[in-house]
Amino acid sequence: MNHKISSLFDYTTKYENSISNPEDFWGEIAEDFHWRKPWSKVLDWNFEEPKMEWFKDSKLNLTENIFERLLSTHADKTAILWEPNDPNSDSVSLTYAELFEATCKFANAMRANGIEKGDRVIIYMPMVPEAAIAMLACARIGAVHSVVFAGFSSSALADRINDCQAKMVLTSDGNFRGSKQIPVKAVVDEALEKTTTIEKVIVLKRTGEPVNMKTGRDIWWSDAIADQSSENEAEVMDAEDILFILYTSGSTGQPKGVVHSIAGYMVYTYYSFINVFQYEESDVYWCTADVGWITGHSYIVYGPLLAGATTLMFEGVPTYPHPGRFWEIIDKYKVNQFYTAPTAIRALQVYGLEPIEKYTLDSLKVIGSVGEPINEEAWHWYHENIGKGRCPLVDTWWQTETGGIMISPLAGITPNKPAHASLPLPGVQPVIVDAEGNELLGNNVEGNLCIRFPWPSIIRTTYGDHNRCKETYFSTYKGMYFTGDGVKRDHDGYLRILGRVDDVINVSGHRMGTAEVENAINEHPEVVESAVVGFPHPIKGQGIYAYAICNSSTKPNAEMESEIKALVRKIIGPIAKPEHVQIVSDLPKTRSGKIMRRILRKVASKDVSSLGDTSTLLNPEIVEEIIKGAGLE
Ligand code: WTA
Repeated sequence: MNHKISSLFDYTTKYENSISNPEDFWGEIAEDFHWRKPWSKVLDWNFEEPKMEWFKDSKLNLTENIFERLLSTHADKTAILWEPNDPNSDSVSLTYAELFEATCKFANAMRANGIEKGDRVIIYMPMVPEAAIAMLACARIGAVHSVVFAGFSSSALADRINDCQAKMVLTSDGNFRGSKQIPVKAVVDEALEKTTTIEKVIVLKRTGEPVNMKTGRDIWWSDAIADQSSENEAEVMDAEDILFILYTSGSTGQPKGVVHSIAGYMVYTYYSFINVFQYEESDVYWCTADVGWITGHSYIVYGPLLAGATTLMFEGVPTYPHPGRFWEIIDKYKVNQFYTAPTAIRALQVYGLEPIEKYTLDSLKVIGSVGEPINEEAWHWYHENIGKGRCPLVDTWWQTETGGIMISPLAGITPNKPAHASLPLPGVQPVIVDAEGNELLGNNVEGNLCIRFPWPSIIRTTYGDHNRCKETYFSTYKGMYFTGDGVKRDHDGYLRILGRVDDVINVSGHRMGTAEVENAINEHPEVVESAVVGFPHPIKGQGIYAYAICNSSTKPNAEMESEIKALVRKIIGPIAKPEHVQIVSDLPKTRSGKIMRRILRKVASKDVSSLGDTSTLLNPEIVEEIIKGAGLE
């Protein structure tokens, strides 16, 4: 059955139906798939424990719904198009039949190397088709993948391996990114010195740089698949078995492993993909995210492939070898749907219109945005210069925890309003609450964004610590999932996401927890205490500003500042490096010893005209010193 929404009226009808009869609504969509055993109940849930079970008791394998389900009609259709970092190197195109064969071979290779259903496998790879093949092969044999963005440091990688007790790492020798060649295997080797659970490492040859291969542990990808059959019997899985774990930052502690289960995630990514992007059978779809993030999981790999789409993967960066690279790729492959992040748009805006003028971009039908609030200026620039004023711009709001797009225009179906994610998808019930949890009804209201009813791809738990899931998402407001975002419902009833209301900083669309960055800074032997806040950054959306109290060292501040920056880079990765580090003699604290971050945020934002009430501070005199130290007097 065709589940694509076809008009505003259709949207309204389906939305209402999805709210009044959620089980019938989702049950009908799930009929599109191939189930080994049908469900006994579409949904069983409570937000207290919390427990969310979708398509309860059913059995399936997600990859059978990409391959066996679609091969009779899609065998020769291109599944994955791959554009390398270097435009002069060969691109790759894999049909559904070829992708199936590659998935089966690699699934067999993993089994031959000891991986069984339920085992955790880390994928630490560049943007190559093998990264998608690795994910699908895990799903095929019921292994749980955890993709770690290949820009993370060895200690961040080790933390993730240890948290999920992974048995295998899939990686590459190196990674081409722009003009750089980045070691990957060397980072894995360093990480494995801090872990004990990894038995095998499978290494894809990409850059050809020399790497250390440990006998008995490390195997080349090509050797691992050499003698494997291209047939593989799919593991029969339970609907609620884990599909993957993806680590993400929150306001407290170390990153947590967000768990997604199979059936609900499958149904929701498929449904949201076809509807938000209005994908049509012969379209070429391109999402520029990295598979290390949720966007890469849901809207490069799973959603598009479940819908039988042609999905383009790009290895490189937007500005290499020239700032027209994205637009060149769109013309080269006649891309119809293009999905990127506001930070990329703002970075390219700086180059003006010249890099765009060489290309027609006339294949584009839909353009999309994800990862952070898109400011109006960037929205208009993108809409006018890339979408040529004729392509709907889908500003898609969602999170690692939601698994799929939650609030977004449906391209060409629901209205476009600059910088507004606008309306919820069918099945999504957003609620705006005030600080006390009272629901704010009507239009022209602003508050915290919660969701009051489960959708199929909702987070199931945080790996190894269910209580953390409950505390983080289901305890702030009783009976609701709390997103951590602020939102406004405008006078027309459209939703506009305002950004995080917790201690999460969004740097170039990447989530960073302040506590995580502070922990890294505090590793410096001369740092006594630190506090990290976000500040508005013209391209990255937000930048990281760190304040550090150091003990009586004789080192000049400039030296300490660069040491701290280098340390964060080493402990977490380049994306977490603070833009500014300010050495201070103390931090503004309340009488109960809490750091008053509001003041630190104001200073970091160079906005000290109204600092608000500082009379409750234990040490009000420090505020002036900090302002002075920031050069704001
Ligand atoms: C932010 C990325 C405004 C938001 C899919 C959310 C957005 C966090 C948008 C999740 C958007 C994502 N408009 N803000 N269209 N999309 N965000 O887990 O703060 O990496 O909570 O998932 O990004 O980031 P995550």
